[in-house]
Amino acid sequence: MNDKKLNILVTGANGQLGCCLRDAAKASRNRYIFTDISDIPGLETTLLDVCNPDTVDIVADSENVDVIINCAGYTNVDKAEEETRLADELNSVAAGNLAATAKRRGALLIHISTDYIFGGDASRPIPEDAPPAPLGVYGATKLAGENAVRSSACRHIILRTAWLYSKYGRNFVKTMLNLTANHPEVKVVSDQLGTPTYGPNLARFITGILEGGIPEQTGTYNFTDEGVCSWYDFASEICTLAGNSCKVTPCRTADYPSRARRPHYSVLDKSLVKSTFGVAIPHWTEPLRECIAELKK
Ligand SMILES: NC(=O)c1ccc[n+]([C@@H]2O[C@H](COP(=O)([O-])OP(=O)(O)OC[C@H]3O[C@@H](n4cnc5c(N)ncnc54)[C@H](OP(=O)(O)O)[C@@H]3O)[C@@H](O)[C@H]2O)c1
Repeated sequence: MNDKKLNILVTGANGQLGCCLRDAAKASRNRYIFTDISDIPGLETTLLDVCNPDTVDIVADSENVDVIINCAGYTNVDKAEEETRLADELNSVAAGNLAATAKRRGALLIHISTDYIFGGDASRPIPEDAPPAPLGVYGATKLAGENAVRSSACRHIILRTAWLYSKYGRNFVKTMLNLTANHPEVKVVSDQLGTPTYGPNLARFITGILEGGIPEQTGTYNFTDEGVCSWYDFASEICTLAGNSCKVTPCRTADYPSRARRPHYSVLDKSLVKSTFGVAIPHWTEPLRECIAELKK
């Protein structure tokens, strides 16, 4: 165990994963600096626009930052099809800015990426080194962000996650809790398979690997909960756990066209993160129970 306390800068700290990190950091020995492009009443936030490389440098230097956790991003998958430039600025160019700052300072960059960099043709859990083939702008800009981080040669850990949910922000669990409580029937697509990720578990993993100092392990890792489900399975479980009497009915993606194409299969293989960091990952139904209990409080 290294005795030095790390200075850890979190970007996009008022978003969903950022808020989960705020909770996880309460148990940490390290010093966290939470930043975002705007502030929210009640949340201590240093204003930082990740698209402005000069400001990123100034804040990183003034806070003597050892680690940057990049949770900022353009995350609206459908809207990204139109706001291509904005999505690229935030998901790709800004990731490169943060990587350049990390490289200059000798800091570690932990960058969050997505299962949507894959095309959905796989039929078994996708390992980290599978060829990416994004179907839309969101996935393409996130892939470009990963590549910018790698090519900067800064010390980095890229964590690919998927279907993030928690008590914070807007997410599928909160939407389905609301819909299944207020409608007799809800139709949900059953031909897109993936795995949900409980934000607090991912956040605890990230803060945990920094408790002993800068980790030796670098590279790209998948991190979601365990198991496989469709959005329909996910919605059915949410409805059941909430005790709602709504009928959840499966439907096909083709019946509900959206602006962005989404992968039919994006289950990520977690073998590498488990063997490298010794982390235990629960089946997706367990944290879902925890989240719904938390939301019902
Ligand atoms: N959500 C998912 O299901 C999911 C799945 C896979 C991967 N991921 C990845 O996980 C990461 C975190 O996702 P999330 O769900 O926590 O996202 P989120 O809730 O959308 O949070 C992103 C945060 O970044 C902020 N932001 C926007 N522009 C910024 C800028 N120029 N400078 C600094 N901050 C800025 C946003 O502020 P505003 O709200 O004011 O714009 C927001 O607070 C992202 O990289 C995302 O791609 C998410």
